[in-house]
Amino acid sequence: MTATVESPRTPYAYPARSTGRRGPNLEKAGWIFMRASGVVLVVLIFGHLAYNLLFTPGGIQAIDFGFIGGKFANPLWQWWDVVMLWLAVLHGSNGMRTIVNDYVHREGLRRIALGAIASSAFILIALGTLITFTFDPCPTGVEAELLPSFCATR
Ligand code: HEM
Repeated sequence: MTATVESPRTPYAYPARSTGRRGPNLEKAGWIFMRASGVVLVVLIFGHLAYNLLFTPGGIQAIDFGFIGGKFANPLWQWWDVVMLWLAVLHGSNGMRTIVNDYVHREGLRRIALGAIASSAFILIALGTLITFTFDPCPTGVEAELLPSFCATR
């Protein structure tokens, strides 16, 4: 049996009749999202690494509870980190969805895997967003010896 492989640049011959599918093309939107979020993630991830490791005196040795507390006191870093979290989780889980759709052929198993991906993405985004905007390194009403040394005793 012989098969003819067309040149990769050959225009796709669309079927003459409509396939009957209507509405927005979500797969195409997901494909565009992967590329757009990839570009934004390069800026966010390398900006994050550069600030923490290159521009902070002391480099990685200086990253401790107080350093994170200081960053989360600044709305710029709160938004930087939360957008990086959302995009990384949505990008990673949409990528995993594609891989599962490609390789998991048993319908029941495919649904379980997709459900697990969606639920873990939801939990990571919900908890990460909550902690980013509510983090308080010096909460009131806590015994002084449980607080880090930089908190003034209240
Ligand atoms: C520097 C930042 C990143 C860039 C530029 C980037 C870029 C891309 C691009 C363009 C694709 C689509 C590939 C295709 O459709 O053939 C992709 C797929 C994927 N990405 Fe990323 N990505 C980045 C970060 C991440 C992160 C942080 C994760 C995980 C949390 C991740 C997980 C995935 C997965 C699982 C896929 C699907 C792979 C596949 O379809 O075979 N990526 N990435």
